[in-house]
Amino acid sequence: MNKIAVLTSGGDAPGMNAAIRAVVRYGIHAGMQVVGIENGLKGLVESKFIGMNLRSVSDIVQRGGTILHSARCAEFHNEEIQNLAVKNLDRIGVEGLIVIGGDGSFMAGRALSLKGVPTVGIPGTIDNDLAYTEYTLGFDTACNTVLDAINKLRDTMSSHDRICIIEVMGRNCGDIALHTGLGGGAEIVIVPEIKMDIEDVENKLRLYEAKGKLSSIIVVAEGAGSAIELRDRLRKDLGYSVRATVLGHLQRGGSPSMRDRYLGTNWGVEAVKLLKNGIGNRLVGIKNNKFFDIDIIEGCAMKKKFDYELYERANVVSNSVK
Ligand code: F6P
Repeated sequence: MNKIAVLTSGGDAPGMNAAIRAVVRYGIHAGMQVVGIENGLKGLVESKFIGMNLRSVSDIVQRGGTILHSARCAEFHNEEIQNLAVKNLDRIGVEGLIVIGGDGSFMAGRALSLKGVPTVGIPGTIDNDLAYTEYTLGFDTACNTVLDAINKLRDTMSSHDRICIIEVMGRNCGDIALHTGLGGGAEIVIVPEIKMDIEDVENKLRLYEAKGKLSSIIVVAEGAGSAIELRDRLRKDLGYSVRATVLGHLQRGGSPSMRDRYLGTNWGVEAVKLLKNGIGNRLVGIKNNKFFDIDIIEGCAMKKKFDYELYERANVVSNSVK
């Protein structure tokens, strides 16, 4: 292949710029021309192409967000829109495409692969909700942002003997809540994979109070419930002093962690190497600290399993009363 294109799609994630930089620099090193597509799949449909050179990606490895911009493109499931995307790539002689994004973007990549565009996906989403890979780009940075918030909130909550509920991102996947709850020592973690039992939560808090523990942190994933609603319910049922913080899009920004720069850079190189060798229709990932790639149809079809053992461990280790 002599000419490839790269786009970022769906919710942005810290580390996407590191991946773009690696795709451009390694692509040029491998003798290829690299085209950037602005605004994700929407930009592909609208032919928003820009030529990339070694300098286009200077000074971005440390920046959150994506220099190519991103957008959600619900209409991409429409076959006419997909055909237009293929035509746009053909017209400028692009022979392979790298899609950096999450499950929705990969379904689009899968459709393009089936239409003959060799496509490689790089997992870019803070949610860590892709089954085929242990980690996704941006998850580590988002977790560190949440941990920083937990630490700060714990200072003030314990000074005032308050209960604090922190709502984190994750619509269908509780990984951010689970990992930050574990790392931040949250007394209660609520995830979408396990139905919330409000009685359980209240009983736990009553037990803590009976043992003289008056301040606790509850981390709730957005897909499992609302921090505001939970705060109101606990105030009403228990009469405690409860505060709620919704972290929201804070979690999507910020300078990428070392881990996310490492993943983004390596996945960028892995994706280019595949296309350079004429191999498309793959997703790159990491398992047991090794980079690997998998068929795009197979990878997209896999269902993420919740780590019940980790959840159990987090609960046991955060429990300070009996
Ligand atoms: O998929 C990543 C994610 O950050 C989710 O955790 C969150 O629910 C969603 O995107 C928010 O999307 P938007 O930025 O479109 O509001």
